[in-house]
Amino acid sequence: MEPDFWHQRWHNNQIGFHESAVNPSLVTHLPSLELAGGSRVFVPLCGKTLDIGWLLSQGYSVVGAELSQLAVEQLFTDLGIEPGITEAGRLSRYHARGIDIFVGDIFDLTPKMVGQVDAVYDRAALVALPEPMRKQYTAHLSAISRVAPQLLITFEYDQQLMNGPPFSVPNNEVHSHYDDHYRVVSLSSGPLVGGLKGKTAAIANVWLLKSRPQG
Ligand SMILES: C[S@@+](CC[C@H](N)C(=O)[O-])C[C@H]1O[C@@H](n2cnc3c(N)ncnc32)[C@H](O)[C@@H]1O
Repeated sequence: MEPDFWHQRWHNNQIGFHESAVNPSLVTHLPSLELAGGSRVFVPLCGKTLDIGWLLSQGYSVVGAELSQLAVEQLFTDLGIEPGITEAGRLSRYHARGIDIFVGDIFDLTPKMVGQVDAVYDRAALVALPEPMRKQYTAHLSAISRVAPQLLITFEYDQQLMNGPPFSVPNNEVHSHYDDHYRVVSLSSGPLVGGLKGKTAAIANVWLLKSRPQG
């Protein structure tokens, strides 16, 4: 999707992807990452997800990337935090104690800008992107996170029945993106209650991507 697509969605408040509660799969499966207290979790394409506030409440630090300044302003308002704002290359960095959110195109982020990442949490990020962009995104995400372990949520459904986003990302595609760098483990797989957007039957898959030992 082009940036304008997302800017329009935020401008018009067409943000059906935004959940009104913390994602249950995050709460259930975060322990699988076996993170030390105070670990820094990267949330790509973060929007204003409530999952960030929950991660902070659990004692983690968060680094995020989001195209929409509107979304990030709303995120900080919802958190009740006044951010400092600094330039970071072609992006802006909204920051406060324990939280850094880069506003701009994730593809303009470098590993150095992102800094330490102990884990990645991808909810509605990979599936938000059309197929040609997903390969570029997964390679870039692996690079800027330095292949940090990852909790990933995907959907699988008949793409003929509905246009994305969210897009169907078949299981073999997840493996094709990540098998070179990770051991890809299925944590759960089951029908999405109520279907996708309330109309299309879909399977929700939760994955643990474990970094392979290097060398
Ligand atoms: C489907 S939403 C998911 C938001 C969030 N992960 C959640 O669970 O609510 C995808 C988000 O990615 C952002 N986005 C899309 N392309 C992006 C890019 N190239 N760089 C940074 N953010 C992007 C959009 O503005 C949108 O907020």
